[in-house]
Amino acid sequence: MARRRLVYEGKAKILYEGPEPETLIQYFKDEATAFNAQKKAVIEGKGVLNNRLSEFFMTGLNAIGVPTHFIRRINMREQLIRMVEMIPVEVVVRNYAAGSLSKRLGLPEGQQLPRPILEFYYKDDALGDPLVSEEHIVAFNWASQQDIDDMIALALRVNDFLSGVFLGVGIRLVDFKIEVGRVYDGDFQRLIVADEISPDSCRLWDIETGRKLDKDVFRQDLGSLADAYTEVARRLGVMPRNAARMNAGPKLVN
Ligand code: TMP
Repeated sequence: MARRRLVYEGKAKILYEGPEPETLIQYFKDEATAFNAQKKAVIEGKGVLNNRLSEFFMTGLNAIGVPTHFIRRINMREQLIRMVEMIPVEVVVRNYAAGSLSKRLGLPEGQQLPRPILEFYYKDDALGDPLVSEEHIVAFNWASQQDIDDMIALALRVNDFLSGVFLGVGIRLVDFKIEVGRVYDGDFQRLIVADEISPDSCRLWDIETGRKLDKDVFRQDLGSLADAYTEVARRLGVMPRNAARMNAGPKLVN
């Protein structure tokens, strides 16, 4: 079998050429990084969990008419996705104060915000993904004003969907990040949700106990990241049996 072509390797995922035009294969690695890769570890099973969880969220979004790049899962670590032209901006939506917002504005962690607050960060590792305004995005031609309006609408729909799904399993969606890409359909172009949606890119707190169930467990050394993600997957009914065996059982080969 011919070796497939690697298109892009990031910190947590690899993109390979897909089987059809305009498709890619997205491979989820076990690597975890934080603070712009100053902190690194391999968390066995993380890639498998994030592949499944991202499939779960993107499938749900597709089903309610929020377009995403997700086509289908291929195996434990890989999914088939639509190729997009990435907008070089991360869109963060916050429902409760935490993380860099708490630090920047001196807000107590966990304080409910008066409404969902949306922020843009310019995707540039060398600069540490700085916070930017709509003015920057338009002036430097990273996206148009229409794209920004579309990104805001997408992100708020994703927020409503995810908040509801997590609330149903006793989890508070504190904040999250999405990335957006452009696809062309004939003469038309539109923006769709791309990259991944997983506990790597959300803040998730247990509503009862406040236990953190997201990448902050790794950032802040709060315990086992695999256990936290497995708990999220278990509550959502995603791979309950495999997940239970993930840490103890024989090593999966793929
Ligand atoms: P922040 O509070 O560190 O700005 O993060 C806000 C949200 O965005 C949080 O859910 C984590 C997520 N996030 C990413 O997914 N990737 C990143 O590079 C950063 C900085 C945050």
